[in-house]
Amino acid sequence: MPGFELFDQQEIDALAEVIRSKVVHRYWFQGMRNGVWKVEEFEKAVADKFGSKHCLAVSSGSAALYVALKALGIGPGDEIITSPFTFIATMESILECGAVPVLAEVDESLTLDPNSVEELITERTKAIMPVHMFGATADMDPFKTICDEYGLFLLEDSCQAMGAKYKGRYAGTIGKFGPYSLDPVKIVTVGEGGLIVTDDEDLYHKMEYYHDHGHIHDNSIERGAEGKACLGFNFRMSELGGAMGLVQLGKLDMAIEKMKESKKKILEGIGNVDGLALRALADREGDTATQTVFLLPTAEAARKFQKASKEAGVPCGNLSDNTWHYARHWATLREGTMFSRLRCPYDCPYVEEMPTYRPVEWPQTHAILSRTAVYGMDILMDDSRIEKIVNAVQAGAKAAL
Ligand SMILES: Cc1ncc(COP(=O)(O)O)c(C=O)c1O
Repeated sequence: MPGFELFDQQEIDALAEVIRSKVVHRYWFQGMRNGVWKVEEFEKAVADKFGSKHCLAVSSGSAALYVALKALGIGPGDEIITSPFTFIATMESILECGAVPVLAEVDESLTLDPNSVEELITERTKAIMPVHMFGATADMDPFKTICDEYGLFLLEDSCQAMGAKYKGRYAGTIGKFGPYSLDPVKIVTVGEGGLIVTDDEDLYHKMEYYHDHGHIHDNSIERGAEGKACLGFNFRMSELGGAMGLVQLGKLDMAIEKMKESKKKILEGIGNVDGLALRALADREGDTATQTVFLLPTAEAARKFQKASKEAGVPCGNLSDNTWHYARHWATLREGTMFSRLRCPYDCPYVEEMPTYRPVEWPQTHAILSRTAVYGMDILMDDSRIEKIVNAVQAGAKAAL
C-alpha cells in the first residue's frame, strides 16, 4: 500500500527543485520564490481531485484531525462518538481538545456500526465520526440520517482512505471535513504530512488561522505585518512536502488500480469458498484494496486459518491482536496517561462521565475482529506473490472450514 513503493526520479527532482530554490517555508520569502508556492499548488490539486471547495495541508494526519476539531470548536464537555477500531490518533485528537471519545461498535465492514451509535447520544454529543478503515469507507447514509435527526456534525476520519469512494463521492468529502494522512505507510506519502478537505469556507479559514499561530495570511505583505485571528499553533507543511505531495498525488489513481487488480486476481484465484466471507463493504467498487480481509465463521476457525496460512508461507493478521488499531490494547487511553496535574478530559470539571475504555466494552467488535484474517496489499505485486497468497488462503480455508 505505501506510496514509497512508487518513489522514483520524479520525487527526487521535485525535492531538489525546492532545495535549490532555498525556499522551504510555505508562506513568506516572497522576494526569493519566483512565484512558486508548492504547498498552495498541492492544496489546489487535492481540492480539485476530490471535488472539495477547500483544502489545507498540515504536518500530519493527526494534526489534520486536531486542527479540524479545534476549528470546529470542539472542547471540554463535548463528546464525539467514534470507533474502537482505528488508529489511536482518532482518540488523541479528541482528547487533546479536552473532549471525550465515546466508542461504539464496528460491524462486519470493520467500520462504525450505525446501529450502535444512537443509544450513546447524550446532550453532550457534538459529532459522530466513522473511521474509514483499511482503504474503504463506512456506510455513511445511515450516519447522515442520525446526525440530521439529532443536530450533530457528521465527521469522517478518512486518514486511511484517500481515493476511496462511497456512492460516487470521495472519502473525506461527505462529512463536515475530511482528513488524510500522508505518513510513511500511506498510499500517498510525503514522509510526514496531512490534509484536510472541506466545503465550509468559515471552517477552512479557522483551520488556516489555527494551524499557523492565528496568522491571517496575506502574501502581498510581510509575514510579520499580518494580523492574527486567534491563538493557534504550528502545524504547517513545508514546501518539500508540497512538492513531493504533488508528484505522489499524480500516482494515486495508478496505485489504486494496481491494488484493485491484484485483489481481483486473488479473489478470482480463490473462487467461492463456503464459510469464507469478505469484509461487508457498503461500496465494494469504492474500495482502494489496501488490504484483503476475510471473515471466518468463528474465532477458532480464524486461528486455524491463520496458522495454516503461515505454514503455507504467507502470514496473515487476526485483527483482535492488532495493537495499532484496536482500542482493547490501549492502556494509555484506559489510564489517561498524561503529564499534566489536571488531566482534561479525565479529571475535567466540565466532563460529566468519562468512559472507562475497558477491554470488555466492545463485545460485538471483539467477536468480529476475532474472526478475521487480513493480508496487506502492496502496490507492486507480481503474479508469483499473488499465487502464493491464493495458495495460503486455500490452505487456511482447508484447515479451518
Ligand atoms: C485512522 C487514522 N487516523 C489518523 C491517523 C494519523 O495520521 P498520521 O500518522 O499522519 O498522524 C492515522 C494514521 O495511520 C490513521 O490510520
